[in-house]
Amino acid sequence: MFSQTKGVTNAISLALGEPDFSPPPHVSQAVKEAIDKGKTHYTPTTGIPELLEALAKKAKRDYGLSYDPESEILITVGGTHAISLAMEAFVNPGDEVLIPDPGFVCYGPSVSIAAGTPIPTPMLQKNGFTIDCETVISHITGRSRMVVVNSPNNPTGSTFTHGDLTAVAKIAKERDLIVISDEVYEKITYDDARHYCMAALPGMRERTIVIGSFSKTYAMTGFRIGYAYGPRELIASMTLAHQFSVACVDGPAQYGALAALTGPQDCVKMMVSEFDRRRRLVFSRLNEIEGFRCGLPKGAFYLFPNIRDFGVPSEELAGYLAKNAGVVLVPGSAFGQHGEGHLRLSYATAYDKLEEAMNRIEKAARTLRKT
Ligand SMILES: Cc1ncc(COP(=O)(O)O)c(C=O)c1O
Repeated sequence: MFSQTKGVTNAISLALGEPDFSPPPHVSQAVKEAIDKGKTHYTPTTGIPELLEALAKKAKRDYGLSYDPESEILITVGGTHAISLAMEAFVNPGDEVLIPDPGFVCYGPSVSIAAGTPIPTPMLQKNGFTIDCETVISHITGRSRMVVVNSPNNPTGSTFTHGDLTAVAKIAKERDLIVISDEVYEKITYDDARHYCMAALPGMRERTIVIGSFSKTYAMTGFRIGYAYGPRELIASMTLAHQFSVACVDGPAQYGALAALTGPQDCVKMMVSEFDRRRRLVFSRLNEIEGFRCGLPKGAFYLFPNIRDFGVPSEELAGYLAKNAGVVLVPGSAFGQHGEGHLRLSYATAYDKLEEAMNRIEKAARTLRKT
């Protein structure tokens, strides 16, 4: 995909799912101090006690959930690692795992690596890219073990309502499924959207692994700090897989995460409000360009416009825009079969760059429609 911009000067990438902000200064400071104070050794497998304690308090404060910091929380190498640990720990060969389609690219491969079978479950634009119960039910078989839920969502930016989650919870309880609830974008919501934690729904704490991350909320992608909350026996299995794969997570980075969680939160508000400004810009500009149709998503930092009116596959359109507009977007097909007919645009990029990218896309799209 990126090679398509070869020879294009000043290419603008709207492909990456990472905030363009630097981490808050007190986070970097805490990492430096940890190093200076010699906190550079292995940490306990599950994480430094102070961070586990702070995460337990966060779960209580945000969602009224009680987790024992000593046995029900695991610090991982980003949310990505928490996802793969969950698959390693709970999926047996041949088990089926329902994953959203379109969905975050890691789900399918992590199920396959664990010798399970990923079962893509459509989330369609006509349903607001939210999870549809009838569809979920129709994809459940006797081999179904787990269902992955992701709200706010990558790649569509959709947010699930309390009703959506309650319906999935009902199915999970009836069919005895573990739920992996990927909530790494929990703090990035707009307008009237509210984030609900799956584990806080009645009867769900005991069957849900909540996945969180510092990457998106605090612009800490490179620190590689994520976490999982869950009931003791599930976290114990993940901890075993964790212990024998990475032993523990980078110590100084854990002190950075601690500072992020316990320090001032105005940096989060500032980033979300800037994402919101960008969201409105790209939404209105894209909808003015003939060929793109998209709703205004209320979460994460992605738009997922429908591009079917161009009459070409998403990969071809992405290639065309990379070459002719110097703007890199991700073809919807990268996120699953049902992502086809869309492109993913990440607006975690500076406002002026987004304006320039929209000008270029507009021009290139006009030319394409004329040919
Ligand atoms: C839905 C979703 N889950 C998890 C992750 C993993 O992020 P990280 O490993 O940086 O915490 C991402 C990153 O893009 C994501 O979009």
